[in-house]
Amino acid sequence: MFNADISKSAFPADFTWGVATSAFQIEGAADADGKGPSIWDDFCKLPGTVADASDGRVACDHYHLWEQDLDMIANLGVDAYRFSVSWPRVQALGHGAFNEAGFAFYQRLVDGMLSRGLKPYLTLNHWDLPSALQAEGGWESRTTVQHFVAYAKEVARRLGDRVVSIATHNEPWIVAVLGHEQGCFAPGKKSRASALQVAHHLFLAHGLSITAMRAQGCKADMGIVLNLSPIEPATDSDADREAVRQADGNGLRWYVEALLRGEYPAEFWTAMGADVPTVLPGDMQAMRVPMDFLGINYYTRVKASAGAPYDVKSGGLEVTDMGWEVYPQGITNLLLRLHRDYAAKGLPPLIITENGAAFADTVSADGQVHDAPRVRYLQDHFAAVHEAMRQGVHVDGYFVWSLLDNFEWASGYEKRFGIVHVDYATQQRTLKQSAFWYRDFLRCQPS
Ligand code: FCB
Repeated sequence: MFNADISKSAFPADFTWGVATSAFQIEGAADADGKGPSIWDDFCKLPGTVADASDGRVACDHYHLWEQDLDMIANLGVDAYRFSVSWPRVQALGHGAFNEAGFAFYQRLVDGMLSRGLKPYLTLNHWDLPSALQAEGGWESRTTVQHFVAYAKEVARRLGDRVVSIATHNEPWIVAVLGHEQGCFAPGKKSRASALQVAHHLFLAHGLSITAMRAQGCKADMGIVLNLSPIEPATDSDADREAVRQADGNGLRWYVEALLRGEYPAEFWTAMGADVPTVLPGDMQAMRVPMDFLGINYYTRVKASAGAPYDVKSGGLEVTDMGWEVYPQGITNLLLRLHRDYAAKGLPPLIITENGAAFADTVSADGQVHDAPRVRYLQDHFAAVHEAMRQGVHVDGYFVWSLLDNFEWASGYEKRFGIVHVDYATQQRTLKQSAFWYRDFLRCQPS
């Protein structure tokens, strides 16, 4: 359906191409140089939480191998690198003293990017909340919001003049719903009321921290990263259409409208009954700050069903190793929908901050990793993003998830999302065919 020959020259000359990672998934060095534990360190210790019973203690050992990793990124020819700061690495307890050694790592990393011509795209919260804050209530507690603002100001003070972009949170829906309602991610709670309070505090921390960082004179672009999917009915039944409306209301509109309009959608608020969050006067205005960008992480579409959950594999659809359907059209549909419904309501320029796929890659006898399905996945999604842009959506950049195979949260090391293969026993990196394909795509100059 999409133009398989899409080339870089079809995109605007100033379009940003990048690769993405996050701290907990790659850094390792779990307690090096004064780093404190995070809720993901704690969660991994609980039996049955991570598929292969692994943890992030070593991961890709990026904390020590960062120079060779930055060389590798630069050699791909990308413009930008999206990474996250581990809050407990720079402030072990999440409040009180900042850790100089931790900050020194990110100073080296950011300076290393700049010296290689890479634009740093920083995320403040990619889920690794300091454990000490969880003990004080974590994101359910309003004091965590104040601590986050202080942390954000310190990061901006030290790095804000050199990073291009600062995203407050990565995927607040995951922290709220998977972390506090379904309990399959850290910190492993199971309460809808907690999840809604957590989401509210994340929005508030987002708005207040952006205001504070800007007040300090930080000129980096500021925004947030949401995981969004187009939601379609599993069948044509009225019940499934209603399931779509509910899922879209709770999953997309709750987030987008809180951030862009400073409002929770009224009918979904009512439906939450006693589970609605405590909202203090001024909160909704504080969370609705003008953003320089909205980051979108897209992997697949969602099929909503009023009955048994929709079985993606049953329809003979192509799926990734996560069991997620390969559906490039979904990103076009999602971008067009955001544009249609929110362009006139403060939607900032969009950036695809994550897109990619896990496949069961292995290094072949010839020393290569033949990941043709990932090449096709990327190519089709590039074309699908381009199609939305052709139809008028403002998209400024695209980041492949991920640079490296890494710790895929509750799936541990069993799922490989990298365009670079990692042998965890030796820390050997091997560029997959998709990395070479991306490099060649980026080398293409307008004719
Ligand atoms: C997203 C996360 C990222 C990674 C991908 C596969 O939800 O932001 O860390 O796990 O999924």
